[in-house]
Amino acid sequence: MANFTYLLITISLFLDLMTVHPSTARPTTFLQDFYITWSESHIKQMENGTAIQLQLDPTSGCGFASKNKYLFGHISMKIKLIPGDSAGTVTAFYLNSNTNEIRDELDFEFLGNRSGQPYTVQTNVFARGKGNREQRMNLWFDPAAEFHTYSVLWNQHHIVFFIDSVPIRVFKNIESKGVPYVNSQSMGIYSTLWNADDWATRGGLEKIDWSKAPFYTYYKDFDIDGCTVPGPPSCTNKTNNWWAAPPYQQLDPIQSRKYRWARLNHMIYDYCTDKTRNPVPPPECLAGI
Ligand SMILES: *[C@@H]1O[C@H](CO)[C@@H](O)[C@H](O)[C@H]1NC(C)=O
Ligand SMILES: *[C@@H]1O[C@H](CO)[C@@H](O)[C@H](O)[C@H]1NC(C)=O
Repeated sequence: MANFTYLLITISLFLDLMTVHPSTARPTTFLQDFYITWSESHIKQMENGTAIQLQLDPTSGCGFASKNKYLFGHISMKIKLIPGDSAGTVTAFYLNSNTNEIRDELDFEFLGNRSGQPYTVQTNVFARGKGNREQRMNLWFDPAAEFHTYSVLWNQHHIVFFIDSVPIRVFKNIESKGVPYVNSQSMGIYSTLWNADDWATRGGLEKIDWSKAPFYTYYKDFDIDGCTVPGPPSCTNKTNNWWAAPPYQQLDPIQSRKYRWARLNHMIYDYCTDKTRNPVPPPECLAGI
């Protein structure tokens, strides 16, 4: 069964390579799209400004944010995480409306671990102030050995978190069932690297080993296709934006298979099935994909 699934994934990766992705790839430097939000001294530009390195040491972590805010789109980033002993560190890559009470937020958080123990990726979805929707997966590869692509597809129909070409999470628009959706506010794109050893690794039991510092995370090939706000008002509702077009309104059969594979084999926590927190599964958990 596992081999069969790997075969399917291999075939579909091959098919993905053959598909002409209708994205508007453009060569860009980090500082054209982003600015530094926290500790300039800990962020270094590399490869002529097309890649960056974030540093965490006992004096500080650091972070950056996009200059623009977006309403719908496709956001992707290649990230290489801290190798070896990364316990207690968190690298976050997320979208955030920055509106306190009615916050919209889509999170990828990479929780470090002791050497040889798997990195965990935690995702969360806040829609109009309601969060508490954590899901966790252990990664099926070493995210510190190579760059991998982490992306979010966001349109009126659903939000999909991808790792490479594998959808790991789908949050459907079921506003019709009374569940708020992320569609009323624009969001910026953020990333931070910081010390979270009070909670991140084995619930806070594993602390950062500062003798291994400084810790580095690398980013490159940021690719943002989306409607900027403020921007042309007609953009947001256009269905001819590729990320909003019919093929992107639900998972295709190959994506659905990969999604089930990832969840069956790698999911370690899901708020949907946490009976202590949610005796009755929240409605979005029953919406299927
Ligand atoms: C950086 O830019 C210079 C000048 O344009 C070029 O010669 C060099 O190959 C570039 N380096 C990288 C790593 O892209
Ligand atoms: C770290 O490794 C332990 C032991 O394998 C595992 O239980 C845990 O889920 C991993 N991730 C985090 C963030 O603690």
